[in-house]
Order: sequence, then structure tokens, then C-alpha cells
Amino acid sequence: MKIGEVHEPNRKVVGRTVWHYDAVESTNETAKESLEAEGEEGLVIWADRQAAGRGRQGRAWASPPGGLYVSVVLRPKQAHAWILGLLVGMPVVKALRHYGVFAGLKYPNDAVYQDRKIAGILSEGVYRRDVYHVIVGIGVNTNVDLEQFPPDLRGTATTLKREVRLFVANDEFLDYLLNQIDDLYSRYRNTRIEFLLKDYRGQCTTIGKRVTARTGKTMVTGKAYDIALNGALVIMDDSGAKHEFVEGNLEILK
Ligand code: BTN
Repeated sequence: MKIGEVHEPNRKVVGRTVWHYDAVESTNETAKESLEAEGEEGLVIWADRQAAGRGRQGRAWASPPGGLYVSVVLRPKQAHAWILGLLVGMPVVKALRHYGVFAGLKYPNDAVYQDRKIAGILSEGVYRRDVYHVIVGIGVNTNVDLEQFPPDLRGTATTLKREVRLFVANDEFLDYLLNQIDDLYSRYRNTRIEFLLKDYRGQCTTIGKRVTARTGKTMVTGKAYDIALNGALVIMDDSGAKHEFVEGNLEILK
């Protein structure tokens, strides 16, 4: 059920309007439904919990109360959809750092602190009436205890509450996060994407590490070397050959 609507006219595009729900199936799905009513670009759907939160690779996203679940409706160039999903990792990390967790970005856009995941992003492209939209869904483990997660996640996830032992209200965190995403999106619209990819490369802690990447039946092990202009992770294997990795499972080796 919708429980509120917030307007922030000082923002340029992202988060000028926020629809707040107590519970939804998935904020990405609610965002898609909003497109039927020709919603404005930058509309944000925020829910206190999700009954069927979705992650990348067809996984579920555990969405207990206390966490932050939002989706942003954007209309970038279709060719930039994947890269934009990477870039939004930067404001998420910035917001986490602002509130005391010195997180880094694991390719493509997981916010990770001390090898534990604290936030994730699922960006999906959709057409509505011949207009291409990207729904960027962001889940941040803010005021959640590890015990609220399914047992198999407790060894690999962390939360803001666990790391900083300080209550940060979700509306406060969201306000800061949306300001950062709004700034990023305006840079996206006004700057060459190569420059933004350079910033992303500098923040991506996967670069320089030894990794194993699996896509379907293909597996590559080597050093994460660069981010290509198409947003792929470039991995150099032990024979010096370069491989591009986009979607699949990426394991950071010790
Ligand atoms: C991942 O790391 O696998 C991506 C997780 C994305 C979760 C967010 S929570 C808000 C939005 N709604 C969803 O169903 N998923 C995204």
C-alpha cells in the first residue's frame, strides 16, 4: 500500500518525486507498473519491505523490514543501460561511506565491506510505448540484523547497523543517496561516458585482483585488468590473453 509521497523540487531529475510503500512484491515491478501512467523520469519507488525482492542472475533479494529498497526510473540511451547500472554503484558506495562504512565496489555493482555484501543493484531495461526505460533497483542492508537474513546469507552479508552500531533512519539515508544519484545522472547527461567509466574504474576494488569468472559453461581465471568501454570487465589470463566478462558469477580469489 502507498503510504506517502515526497517531493524534492531542488533535485534535477532523480528523486524529485518519491512514492513510499509499506510493502510491495518488488520495487522494480512497481516501478514498471508506474510506466503505464507515463510517470516522470527520475521517479523513485521506495518500500519498507518486499515480499519477492529480486537480485541479479535470477536470485532472490532478502528484503526484511529495516532495509532500504528503492527503484529509480531513468531514460538513458539504450546503449548505455549496462554502464549506467555500473555507475550507480558509485553513489551507493558514497552514501555508505558517508554513514561510516568504508565499502568498495565489486564488479559489476555490489557494495562490499570486508568481503561481505552490504548493497546490491539490479538494473533492468524495459520498453513502454516505444520508449526505452531503465529501472535501477537498489537494495541496501541498513537497519537489519544478520539474524533477519536466511542462514545461508549470514556468512557473506553485512549491514550498516552491524558495522557502525548507529541507527541511521532510512529516509535520511535515502535523501543523501538520491542527491548523489541525481548528481551522477546529471554528469552522465553532460559528460562523456568514458570519463565516468574512469571514475568507476578507480572505485572498483575488483581491478588488480585475481578472479575466476563463470558465464554459462565458460570459465576464465586471471587478473581483473580493466573496464572496457562497453562496461565489460577485462580479465587477463595467465597466458596474457584478454577476455571480456559481463554477466555471470565472479569469484575473487585470495
Ligand atoms: C543483487 O545484488 O543481486 C541485486 C539486488 C537488488 C535488490 C534491489 S531491492 C530494490 C529492487 N527491487 C528488487 O526486487 N530488487 C532491487
